[in-house]
Amino acid sequence: MRRDYQSSPAASGADMEWLALAEYWRGRSLAGCFQEDPERARRYRADVAGLHVDWSRQFIDEASRDRLLGLADGAGFHAWREALFAGEPINRSEGRPALHMALRGGSERDWRAAGEAVSGLVARELEAMAGFVESLHHGRQGAGGKPIRHVVNIGIGGSHLGPEMLVKALPAAEQAPAVHFLSNVDPDQADRLLGGLDPAETLFLIVSKTFTSKETMENAAIARRWIAEALGEEAVATHFAAVSTAPDKVAGFGIPADSTFRFWDWVGGRYSLWSAAGLAAVVHLGMPAFRALLEGAAEMDRHFEQAPDQENLPLLLGLLDVQSVSAFGWPVWAVVPYADRLRLLPHYLQQLVMESNGKSVNQDGQAVSIDCAPVLLGGIGTDAQHAFFQLLHQGPSPVPVDFIAAARPAGSPDESAMARHRILLANCLAQGEALCHGRLLSDVEMELAEAGVAEEVVRYLAPQKAFPGNRPSNLILMESMGPRTLGALIALYEHRVFVQACLWGINPFDQMGVELGKQLAKRAETFLDGTPDDQVLDPAMRQQMGWLSRQWNR
Ligand code: F6P
Repeated sequence: MRRDYQSSPAASGADMEWLALAEYWRGRSLAGCFQEDPERARRYRADVAGLHVDWSRQFIDEASRDRLLGLADGAGFHAWREALFAGEPINRSEGRPALHMALRGGSERDWRAAGEAVSGLVARELEAMAGFVESLHHGRQGAGGKPIRHVVNIGIGGSHLGPEMLVKALPAAEQAPAVHFLSNVDPDQADRLLGGLDPAETLFLIVSKTFTSKETMENAAIARRWIAEALGEEAVATHFAAVSTAPDKVAGFGIPADSTFRFWDWVGGRYSLWSAAGLAAVVHLGMPAFRALLEGAAEMDRHFEQAPDQENLPLLLGLLDVQSVSAFGWPVWAVVPYADRLRLLPHYLQQLVMESNGKSVNQDGQAVSIDCAPVLLGGIGTDAQHAFFQLLHQGPSPVPVDFIAAARPAGSPDESAMARHRILLANCLAQGEALCHGRLLSDVEMELAEAGVAEEVVRYLAPQKAFPGNRPSNLILMESMGPRTLGALIALYEHRVFVQACLWGINPFDQMGVELGKQLAKRAETFLDGTPDDQVLDPAMRQQMGWLSRQWNR
């Protein structure tokens, strides 16, 4: 376990405590922990909101858990959590609360965002969404009288990843139109998608918190032209709906108020799938399933807010995440769902984790003095076993893994499907075991020798076949692949990310790091459209643009 805290220029008390934790675990093994504590597998697991979570293969014991909880205390975690749920403007750089829990918390609670009562707003918006979805499921007609059979979500980042992930994860409600996603400004995506659709049967849902994202606005303009050319300008009002915090801009686009759905600036983009920003997913799932999703997330919220620290799942897992990065120096984190339906979960989590915590400056503007900011790697099992698992097992540095699986497949599986599901689960369980226990060099040597392999061959082959083991993982089992458990799972990750941020002292709710690229792209665009200005462009950019213009002028 590498980490030289001494080299940190501003080693604070907490930094030293992470160093001490690394020392505490130096030379100890996970296998040894299981031998020392026969109750371990039972001690480090919990059942919350349809999830069975096991973190016994992490570097934790009773003493270190208390030290981790002490670190949370020292970082002001309890005060931060209280401020989060109270709707205080904890997103300091933008002066906003981050109250996504109010979107799923029900109207029995008086949720307040910066003092303003919001439960009623949320309930009204849910009703409006229900009416819209109902109309689509009951043959809502386009301008030419044909029923809408295709809904295209135009949005990017938080206005795309969550809804698409849900559409892939959960079954369609009866009579739901097909839902498609247009996120990339790459013309290929729009051309291929629109080429297969009939304008008379297509409704576009423009989802943008700001209603300014370049990619979204370009795609919306293309879609608008496509509809207007096929059905006439007046059809725009019927074939478009929008979700935004900027209703004036939506009206300017020509979308009527009764097709405009709202969310609020206290909902971060990557925390918005619970709001009207998730509307495309609601069109696919239907309102009852969406409400079950919200309820699952709300159960996790209640647990996070109320469960004692020693049993608090997001708190404990978040602390272990920080330990991996800040004490052990393992910056990469893998999330591997053994469920084809969760194929897009790692993409979704990449934005949640890295746009939230991919920072190295704390809330006070000072550099964080320890390793922070996990890098999330992901893919579905078993496919990922044949892609990046080699590195997980034998790479030089451990990569903590979250394995996710459901007890049974979606729908009503027959015996054949259950048999294949058992193979899937067997793989999932085996990977965690292999990472934890590894394979001793002496065992490999013995095996090879017993198989009659020559001694000199054993000498070079055995080290290549041995596994170091002692690599941590969590196992998250879902009762079923249904909306309630999925809601709880996503909320679990949201709160873990919050806990990580508290411990690092960073603001997980802004995303200043994506702005510079956007600004420079705007400038580059003007030069690509016209004459590059040699005074302004850096030499690499000048050279690259030169090559492009030679290609275009050939
Ligand atoms: O990537 C930056 C970002 O601001 C994300 O946080 C957000 O999810 C995405 O762009 C889309 O923004 P909008 O919903 O305003 O179009």
